[in-house]
Amino acid sequence: MKPEDYAQGDGFQVEKRTVFSAEWLSLCAEGQIATPGDFLSATVGGWGVFGVRDREGVVGVLRNACRHQNMQVVGTPSGHCETFRCRFHGWTYDLQGRFLGAPPPVAPKDPQSPELHLASLATSIVSGIVFFSLAAPAPPPDLGGSLPAYGGTLTTEIACNWKVCVEHLLAEHTPSADFRWHWPLLAVRRAGSVTIMEQVVPHTFLRTRLLTHVFGNSPDDHRQAAATIKHVCERLQADRNDGMPAAEGALVATFHRQLAEAYAQDRATT
Ligand code: FES
Repeated sequence: MKPEDYAQGDGFQVEKRTVFSAEWLSLCAEGQIATPGDFLSATVGGWGVFGVRDREGVVGVLRNACRHQNMQVVGTPSGHCETFRCRFHGWTYDLQGRFLGAPPPVAPKDPQSPELHLASLATSIVSGIVFFSLAAPAPPPDLGGSLPAYGGTLTTEIACNWKVCVEHLLAEHTPSADFRWHWPLLAVRRAGSVTIMEQVVPHTFLRTRLLTHVFGNSPDDHRQAAATIKHVCERLQADRNDGMPAAEGALVATFHRQLAEAYAQDRATT
């Protein structure tokens, strides 16, 4: 990878068109939206989405784009509600994203049109993690079966490119039964009775969120580790800005190969 792929927005747009529009992407732990009406929104690889549990307890992932003028419907990172009301002109949607109504001045001509519903994305829950895809590719990843009880999730905001965070998570490991990497955004670590899933959320090319989902233990025991990842990744980002090479290792090499394939695919189609 070239230094500018970590420090400028062009590479992120390529990744949005290829990696993030084609793969299954992790959104959150199912336990983060445990009750009907719970929702969680994020920008993942440049795509604004939110996950919500409906009245029947089914989790769905929807595009966070109002059908009126394409503005963001859900403006808070997480919460609980009965319906979603777009704050711009008041179009409302139910927990499955179906259009419910709009104030008369901005009401659509045909309120029954299915085109008014929020775009619903392919959704799958695997080992307690909610995945979505814009492309509905092959089956979602196998995360290795059942897990201990969900303990909670830590959220860490990191001022780095998402690839810096991924490389750091991979650099210390080789593939094994205790460490598995699921392209492009999820690492699963097992340590005795505890399983930790580290989920990378690429917000923008220099803003990354790390979600540390802990199963079988309290997340409080992992705060220091998450803070260390933040510190190291922000230092590594500064190194990339100075043109220093990326970390090495078998898993990092695999990650770079998959990225190179995505970049080549983009060059072939644009
Ligand atoms: S953009 Fe949502 S109601 Fe107008």
